Amino acid sequence: MTAEHILEAPLAEDLDVPLTTGLVGDVRLRRLTALDADAFAGHVAADLARLSEFLPWPARTSTPPGAAEWLARYDRGEDGRKLVAGVMQDGALVAGMVLMNHDEAAAIIELGCWSVAAAEGRGVVRAACVEGLRLARSWGVERVEWHCDPQNSRSGALARRLGFQLEGTLRSAYPLRGERRDTEVYGLIGTEIDEAIDQAPR
Ligand SMILES: CC(C)(COP(=O)(O)OP(=O)(O)OC[C@H]1O[C@@H](n2cnc3c(N)ncnc32)[C@H](O)[C@@H]1OP(=O)(O)O)[C@@H](O)C(=O)NCCC(=O)NCCS
Repeated sequence: MTAEHILEAPLAEDLDVPLTTGLVGDVRLRRLTALDADAFAGHVAADLARLSEFLPWPARTSTPPGAAEWLARYDRGEDGRKLVAGVMQDGALVAGMVLMNHDEAAAIIELGCWSVAAAEGRGVVRAACVEGLRLARSWGVERVEWHCDPQNSRSGALARRLGFQLEGTLRSAYPLRGERRDTEVYGLIGTEIDEAIDQAPR
């Protein structure tokens, strides 16, 4: 990790950065907290069926109390939850990124993401993920994991565009709507993380 990568990353608490994407208007990534619960719940509820296809948490966060509880777990840093950040287009939440399962001793973190249908296919999530990688690197992370369902082709494609390598498949890894699903594990390590950051427009 270079000094440049440390200096360029804002503190997670202060995160509020403009993103270069294909969306029009003012597009920014900023930290979300439990105070954003109403907006978060509305954003999830408006695209619930699609977001729930491969993600477990939308089912719990489409109401303000459910969203507040989920966001508060990030506020408290529970179980390695480091950050939940939202992409705001002219003040409206359209996508987001999480950094979770941080193992400080092993210098490992997991990156997750989503967008509403209207923001998909515009490079929005990729830009948000690059900011997540920048932060992770500033915390000394050496390995970033990306977990996705093998049927989630858009997620796998984004991971590969960022430079992640598919490392294996965890069989029967999690329950979703009563069915046990596999999880593909992708990894991005060491200077590959810096390369993903450096390739992105800012
Ligand atoms: C998975 C998911 C986050 C991928 O999002 P995405 O929008 O495909 O990913 P990106 O931000 O990288 O955007 C890529 C697209 O934007 C295009 N793009 C990139 N930069 C662009 C720009 N500056 N202007 C316009 N388009 C741009 C790319 O060409 C690509 O287009 P294509 O999909 O037609 O090939 C999204 O499909 C999603 O939210 N799904 C539901 C939730 C989910 O499954 N989350 C992941 C769980 S593991």
